[in-house]
Amino acid sequence: MTSYTELGLVNTKELFKKAVSGGYAIPAYNFNNMEQLQAIIQACVETKSPVVLQVSSGARKYANQNILKNMARGAVEYARELGYDIPIALHLDHGNSFELCKDCIESGFSSVMIDGSHLPYDENVELTRRVCEFAHSQKDYVTVEGELGVLAGVEDDVSSEHTHYTEPGEVIDFVSKTKVDSLAISIGTSHGRTKFKPEQCTRDANGVLIPPPLRFDILEEIEKKIPGFPIVLHGASSVPMEYVRMIEQFGGHLKDSVGIPEEQLRKAAKSAVCKINIDSDGRLAMTALIRKVLAEDPEEFDPRKILGPSRDELKKLYMHKNLNVLGSAGQA
Ligand code: G3H
Ligand code: 13P
Ligand code: ZN
Repeated sequence: MTSYTELGLVNTKELFKKAVSGGYAIPAYNFNNMEQLQAIIQACVETKSPVVLQVSSGARKYANQNILKNMARGAVEYARELGYDIPIALHLDHGNSFELCKDCIESGFSSVMIDGSHLPYDENVELTRRVCEFAHSQKDYVTVEGELGVLAGVEDDVSSEHTHYTEPGEVIDFVSKTKVDSLAISIGTSHGRTKFKPEQCTRDANGVLIPPPLRFDILEEIEKKIPGFPIVLHGASSVPMEYVRMIEQFGGHLKDSVGIPEEQLRKAAKSAVCKINIDSDGRLAMTALIRKVLAEDPEEFDPRKILGPSRDELKKLYMHKNLNVLGSAGQA
C-alpha cells in the first residue's frame, strides 16, 4: 500500500477549486512512456502550470503498475530538479470497476475516475458512490471523477457509436448521492482523432472539416444547477492539421480527422470546466515526428534519435496548450 503523499503527489481538490474561481482549466495529459512524461513535466515546469498525469487501464497494462508509480515519483523529483515544484496529480482515466479504482488508490494514485456512464443511471450512482466512499475514507483523501452522459468514440473497454448529452436534470441528484469531487459531462466532444462524422461538419475552402459547435447551452444549464462544481471535459484534443498533414506526407493515412477548435476550449476553460483531457493530440505529434525522422533518415536506428524529436515536439504542444488554450500557465 502506497499513499500518494509518499510520492509527493497532490489530489485534485485544491487544484480544481482554484481553477474554477480563476477561470482556467488544469491540463490532464495521458502518458504511457518516459518520453511523454518527460515532455509533460518539462512543459508544465516551464509554463509553471499544475498538471494531472493521466493513466488509462490500457496504459497501466502497457507500462506496468509498479513502473508507473515510480515514474510518477520520478516526475515529482524531476520537476524539482528543473527548478519549480509544480502540483502534480496522478489520475486513473476511465476506471471501469471498483476493483481497478481500489487497486490504483492503493498503489499511489491521488485521483481516480469511475466511468459508469454506460450503465443505467441507478447503477452508475451506486458504483460511483461506492468508489467515493472508499477513496474519501483513505488516510489521504483521494478525489473521484464521475461521468454523466456518453461520449461517442472508443475508450478502453467501453465504446459508443452515439453521443448522449448529459441530462442537466440529473446532475444535482448524481452529485449529492455519490459525493463525487468532479463531474465529466458530454456536450459534443468525443474521443480520438475523428470526433465528428464528415456529414456532421461543413468544409472550408481547402476541404478541411469544420465541426459543429459544442453544446454550451447544456454546460450553462449544468452550471446553473450546481454552481461552481468542478466540471471535466473529455475528448478535448484539437487534432492539429499540421500533424495530420505531416503524418500523411510521410506515408500515414488519417482520413476525415477533425478535433475541437481551440476557441471553444478557451471558452470552456473560462467556465466551471476545470480539467481538460488531452491524449490524441500527443499521439499525433509523436507519430508525426517519428514518421518524419524515419522517412528523412532511413539509416537511423538509434531510438534516442527517433524519439528525441518527438519529445521536443510534445513539449512544444503542451506549452502551447497551457499558455494559449487552457490558461493554466503561471497558476502553479
Ligand atoms: O479516453 C481515452 C484515452 O485517450 C486513453 O486511451 O485507453 O487507448 O489508453 P487508451
Ligand atoms: P482525446 O482523444 O480528445 O485526446 O481525449 C482524451 C481523453 O478524454 C482521455 O480521457
Ligand atoms: Zn476520456
